[in-house]
Amino acid sequence: MKFNLIITLATVFALACSQNQSQEIPPSISKYRPLLHFTPPANWMNDPNGMVYYEGEYHLFYQYYPDSTVWGPMHWGHAVSADMVSWAHLPIALYPDDLGYIFSGSAVIDWKNTSGLGTEQSPPMVAIFTYHDPVGLEEGRLDFQTQGIAYSLDKGRTWEKYKDNPVLENPGIFDFRDPKVSWMEEFQKWIMILAVKDHISIYSSDDLINWIKESDFGESLGAHGGVWECPDLFKLKNQKGEEKWVMLVSINPGGPRGGSATQYFIGDFDGETFQTDDESIRWLDHGADNYAGVTWADIPEADGRRLFVGWMSNWQYAQVVPADDFRSAMTLPRELILRNTKRGNEVWSVPVEEIDKYFNSEVSFQNEMEITADAYVVSFEVTDAKNFSINFSNELGEIVDIKSEAGIFSFDRSQSGHVDFEEGFGVKHEIDFADITIQTIQIFVDKTSLEVFVNDGERVVTELVFPQEPYNKIMLKGVKEAVYSPIAK
Ligand code: FRU
Repeated sequence: MKFNLIITLATVFALACSQNQSQEIPPSISKYRPLLHFTPPANWMNDPNGMVYYEGEYHLFYQYYPDSTVWGPMHWGHAVSADMVSWAHLPIALYPDDLGYIFSGSAVIDWKNTSGLGTEQSPPMVAIFTYHDPVGLEEGRLDFQTQGIAYSLDKGRTWEKYKDNPVLENPGIFDFRDPKVSWMEEFQKWIMILAVKDHISIYSSDDLINWIKESDFGESLGAHGGVWECPDLFKLKNQKGEEKWVMLVSINPGGPRGGSATQYFIGDFDGETFQTDDESIRWLDHGADNYAGVTWADIPEADGRRLFVGWMSNWQYAQVVPADDFRSAMTLPRELILRNTKRGNEVWSVPVEEIDKYFNSEVSFQNEMEITADAYVVSFEVTDAKNFSINFSNELGEIVDIKSEAGIFSFDRSQSGHVDFEEGFGVKHEIDFADITIQTIQIFVDKTSLEVFVNDGERVVTELVFPQEPYNKIMLKGVKEAVYSPIAK
């Protein structure tokens, strides 16, 4: 986002926040609150942060402003889950301090206690984040974003900031943020990838405290319609057993549907530099509302999945979408898989299997279905890839129309309900899927969002909608039998 447009409050604000140390926080009652998606207990949320798995818990930290439903001085909110679907809200993990707001970043378990912040018997959970100093920004400095660390010795419940922060100073670059850190066993070192304006900088460290610059990537590759943010770098193996490195880079604006989106690169990484296999621009999600997503650290090898969550919004309208006392949700958790296709390697997104247990009944139908549930999934096989449609509507005439017509796939939310809060929201998105053959569609609907998975994850379209009343009817054309499953939660 463009921080220079935001009127910043001084960090004194931080002191005004009460540090609530009580355990689980009950979420507010809101007609917008989805049933299956992660949302903050109240107020503003953006990017997922510090995603790490430890001792049976998926930790999700997130960009949080606990005093308003619009963006403000950033904290790290915190929640834990055993399955990435049902979450317990925990007290705020990181508060702004003298060095600035707490912007996006990552968390790791320092298993070998390389940082010396814990012990090997009781390894520290270490968060690596960006300090955004609003005072430096107001003074017109360029070096107001630096990287800091904090650690927890009690499974993320309480946090200490490192005494000598920042651990990475800013060399004088306006956008210098969102560190994603991983221990890379084959290189025996920590690797940090950082979003630096229009490229990625790669750093390495032995101890999470002292960082050495290794290389830069991407200044002349990929999409560049906006600033680069929230990167990730990890290895995936395709179905033929070939291993590749994948780099995620979010970009805002400059996404294919306007505003924010996440692109990815496939290539090789040797512990110092990342090189892509080709120069194509690839998008992780083809809808308007999946941004700043990254993957969980420290998933046990026996599980082996690369698990992803994105922020289900878009900076173009995120702060003005209809809301009552909270704003924004995360996408459903997805497994990222590498598939070798006739177009080469691609990253596909599949909803995690943990979601299945929330749907335990199925109704088959042909053309039309009355809906009563607030969240449900609809799946079907199409008869003609180039000519089918599905729409969701209510008695007010509000409708979401998803179709493939003469080979053009479209997601039309122009009549979907509240749309006039921002001029770019209520539009029909035409999405170029000419390079694939659509066979199956699975759509998760959850109050204010639709997530369309095409061909078991070959393509995904995530979009927000704000109907005044829930859609209560599904109509289908050009589709073989469909299956409707209401949520059982
Ligand atoms: C992405 C982003 C990050 C930044 C954070 C601030 O949505 O702009 O680059 O760290 O949000 O809240």
